[in-house]
Amino acid sequence: MAVLNVALMGHPVLSRPALPVEDPTRPEIAQLIDDMLDTMDAESGVGLAAPQVAVGLRIIVFKVPGDRSGEADIPPQALINPEITPLSDDTAEAYEACLSVPGLTGPVPRWTRIRYRGLRPDGTVVEREATGYHARVIQHECDHLDGRLYLSRMQDIRKLAYLDEIRRQIAAKDAVKDKETP
Ligand code: NI
Repeated sequence: MAVLNVALMGHPVLSRPALPVEDPTRPEIAQLIDDMLDTMDAESGVGLAAPQVAVGLRIIVFKVPGDRSGEADIPPQALINPEITPLSDDTAEAYEACLSVPGLTGPVPRWTRIRYRGLRPDGTVVEREATGYHARVIQHECDHLDGRLYLSRMQDIRKLAYLDEIRRQIAAKDAVKDKETP
C-alpha cells in the first residue's frame, strides 16, 4: 500500500491531456491503481485521476457513496481509458471540490445522464449508465484526463468559495433557523 502525493493546481501534468493505456493488464498498471485507491482513501476523496498523482495516463478511480447519490453504494473501482457519451442535453449545477484544488468549492454544470465505457484492470470492458451524482463524479474525473479542472467549467467564477466559509455560512443559517423555530 502506498499513498502518493497529490499534484496541486499549477502542476503542468494537470493541464495536459493524458495518454491512453495500451495494455491495462500490465503489473505496473495494477500497482498504480492500488496506490491511487489508497491515495483516494487517505485523502477522503470520491475520485482521483492518474494525472493527479503526476502520471499522464487515462486511468481514474472512484466510488459513489450511497448517502451522496441516494442509491446503492458503488464500491471503489478503477476505469481505464474511459469514454463518456451524454444521454440527454440536460445539465444540472452542483458544488464540486477537487483534491488538486484544496479548500475550494464551486458550482459546476454537468450532464445529468451519461453512458460511460472503459476497461477494468483485467482488460474486460465495462459499460454502464449513470445519473446525478454518479454521473458528476465520472465527468469530473474524466475532465482531469483532458487536462481540465472543474474551475474551467464554472459558469460564474464569482461563486468560487472556500469550503470553510461555506460551512460557516451554513452554520450561521442553521443558527438563525434554530432561533426562529419555537
Ligand atoms: Ni478533481
